[in-house]
Amino acid sequence: MFDCIDHPAKTGSLLKGGLLAAVIVVSSVFGNLVFSEVSAAVPSDAAAGIQSRKDHFKELEDALRAIRRELGKPNPDLTTMRDRSKRVGALASQLPTWFPVGTGPESGFDTEAEASIWQQPAEFHRVAQVLADQAALLDAASAQGDVPAIRQKLHDVGGSCQSCHDRFRNDSWW
Ligand code: HEC
Repeated sequence: MFDCIDHPAKTGSLLKGGLLAAVIVVSSVFGNLVFSEVSAAVPSDAAAGIQSRKDHFKELEDALRAIRRELGKPNPDLTTMRDRSKRVGALASQLPTWFPVGTGPESGFDTEAEASIWQQPAEFHRVAQVLADQAALLDAASAQGDVPAIRQKLHDVGGSCQSCHDRFRNDSWW
């Protein structure tokens, strides 16, 4: 092949090289077709599973932001905080179901979920339960309209998000 670069006049070998490349392209296209026919269900399920997990996490984050925004106001709106706290509680208790088998880094799709989630399921569930418990306390404080307690519980909830991310989320970008 280096021959071609050194002596471009040798069109015969250039042509052969081109044909070879074409054969490789065609066979890899067919290879992909066969592959996707056999295992189409699994990769697309994994992609959808990862996407809906990310959507849930964004909703969780948005709900917490909405509560924080109210707390920054001179007269926080209790209805908003109650509504959003209830949603945080519901989402937190569902969190473990957002991690079906096959939606980890081995799927090849874009995910920050660590493989250890599926290797240490008991530990992952324990950490998720800490969030669910804190979220239930936030919900209770909001239901009572106890603003200083809401502030404290919101802080605690934020801490349990962080402690799971430290262990089970690979979000280092450097
Ligand atoms: C039990 C573990 C755990 C807890 C608790 C947890 N997270 Fe996460 N979080 C993850 C993992 C794992 C990912 C990576 C998901 C992925 O990329 O597939 C993630 C990703 C996210 C993302 C990024 C979503 C995206 O678009 O890529 C946000 C935002 C987020 N979490 C917010 C929160 C908030 C807010 C809380 C607390 C209320 C929280 N998380 C609690 C494990 C957790």
